[in-house]
Amino acid sequence: MHLGCERFFQPGYAANLTSAWLPALEGVVDKLESGASVADIGCGHGASTVLMAQAFPRSTFRGSDDHAASVDTARERATAAGVGDRARFEVASAQDFPGRGYDLVTMFDCLHDMGDPLGAARRVREAIAEDGTWMVVEPAAGDHVEDNLNPVGRAYYGFSTLLCTPASLSQPVGAALGTQAGPARVRELVAQAGFSRFRVAATTPFNAVYEIRP
Ligand SMILES: C[S@@+](CC[C@H](N)C(=O)[O-])C[C@H]1O[C@@H](n2cnc3c(N)ncnc32)[C@H](O)[C@@H]1O
Repeated sequence: MHLGCERFFQPGYAANLTSAWLPALEGVVDKLESGASVADIGCGHGASTVLMAQAFPRSTFRGSDDHAASVDTARERATAAGVGDRARFEVASAQDFPGRGYDLVTMFDCLHDMGDPLGAARRVREAIAEDGTWMVVEPAAGDHVEDNLNPVGRAYYGFSTLLCTPASLSQPVGAALGTQAGPARVRELVAQAGFSRFRVAATTPFNAVYEIRP
């Protein structure tokens, strides 16, 4: 299942992350080029972490996930890609990942899987620099069921029912945002956690990229 997630998402990240999504965020590429500290939360096998570490050799990347076997694989992927010096990985939940003062915090296709996304958002608010950016990549979803009655929405409701919603329900709080959280729900959540700015920075047929700032 974890390998399947990596194989499903990695091509989309390879096609969009450094060429379109990061450049869509205000001032982030400049910081990454000169040397930023980045936390990639819920990193799974590290597909996103490795792509960013390859593109921005002056920055440091700290990936974390609460699934220990995924963290082991992420380390292997970073070593194989030759970025093990600047991409490090550890087992941690999104509600208490280590570190502070991050210029960029990223979450790729994982906020909606978390049992306590509000707890995670509050932890990001504590850990991010005052001029930092939180990039949340989520499945492309409208705010209403009828907005998702299309081929991508049908596939994602399937994932949601079999994977994302049970994953969230298995954790404390069990918020169950599901795959189809939509921008309105995510905006409400980050405002509750103390962020003041929220913007849909980019979209593809499969993903929405949210820029969230203190
Ligand atoms: C669909 S996978 C995405 C993985 C990776 N970000 C990617 O895009 O390939 C969701 C990930 O969220 C992680 N996850 C779920 N709940 C978590 C939590 N509370 N804290 C940290 N990681 C969590 C899972 O272990 C899994 O690796």
